[in-house]
Amino acid sequence: MNLIEAVALSKCYNEKTKKKVYAVKDVDLAIRKGEILGLVGESGCGKSTLGKMLLQLEKSTGGQVFYGDENISKYDFNKMRTIRNNMQMIFQNSSNLFNPYYTVKQIIMEPINNYSKDSEADKEQRIIDILSKVGLDSSYLERYGNQLSGGQRQRVGIARALVLKPEFVVCDEVVSSVDYEIRNQILKLLIDLKEEFGLTYLFISHDLSAVKKICDRVVVMYMGNIMEILPSIEENIKHPYTKALLAASLDINPRNRQKKKILFRENEEQIIPENGCIFQNRCLYSNEKCKNNKPKLENTEDNHFVACHLYKK
Ligand SMILES: Nc1ncnc2c1ncn2[C@@H]1O[C@H](COP(=O)(O)OP(=O)(O)OP(=O)(O)O)[C@@H](O)[C@H]1O
Ligand SMILES: [Mg+2]
Repeated sequence: MNLIEAVALSKCYNEKTKKKVYAVKDVDLAIRKGEILGLVGESGCGKSTLGKMLLQLEKSTGGQVFYGDENISKYDFNKMRTIRNNMQMIFQNSSNLFNPYYTVKQIIMEPINNYSKDSEADKEQRIIDILSKVGLDSSYLERYGNQLSGGQRQRVGIARALVLKPEFVVCDEVVSSVDYEIRNQILKLLIDLKEEFGLTYLFISHDLSAVKKICDRVVVMYMGNIMEILPSIEENIKHPYTKALLAASLDINPRNRQKKKILFRENEEQIIPENGCIFQNRCLYSNEKCKNNKPKLENTEDNHFVACHLYKK
């Protein structure tokens, strides 16, 4: 069953000028209830924009978003408020978004106050409960955001997103600014919370090993377009871009750095093709067809979609 679905979803900046640029272009994507869907791609490819549009935190310029059967694309602020508690985001650099003069209690109280008329004591108890779920005890309640470590702030960000018991959570780079040990703790925490609360995640990350570790499926984006949706970023990768992305992510190893050179034509990366495949200038396999026809995202085998002429059936 699909929990969230995007249909031809787009975000275009400077739409009416020559500097028109698509942060997200005609994205079709269904997120299944209960899954952890990874979203990867280079910086600036549109991951955060897509995540925010799914939650209506950013307005799309085209296409639709469905939450269950409801088309929420046209919901105004008030209508969105009625379902906002079901859909939350853990923001990229969420710790920087906290008001440094707020205590942990105040930070987590904010969303509760928007939705609950419980007594102060009950609200505080909810905060204590969710803090304990993310591994922080009640001694943190009165601490200020700037008195916390990066890992602790990230936990507070998770607690804040989960305190309203949402169904769907967009996790945007939640492990990118913490060290290895904390990262593993946070990944485990996300999985435990998912099991306990029956959550569905869109897990946006540069950290492909984290994606390998926790995601059920992976979406690969390039310049606002989905290039591939695959069951695992470890095996049976088809799209030349996904292969290159993976090779580039492993470049501590010189053998892989070599691979990266083979797969990426990096010097041409700035040119945005007007027609055909968006990746044609960087792809070693591009041919005439790629210059003229934009490949559609097509089902090539079970659970596997690829937008590349090399894999047309
Ligand atoms: N106001 C704007 N005007 C023009 N372009 C914009 C504007 N805001 C964002 N963009 C562009 O939208 C694109 C997508 O940005 P987004 O933040 O979604 O990327 P991202 O994949 O999340 O990157 P990162 O991995 O660095 O977080 C970027 O190329 C960015 O330059
Ligand atoms: Mg981002």
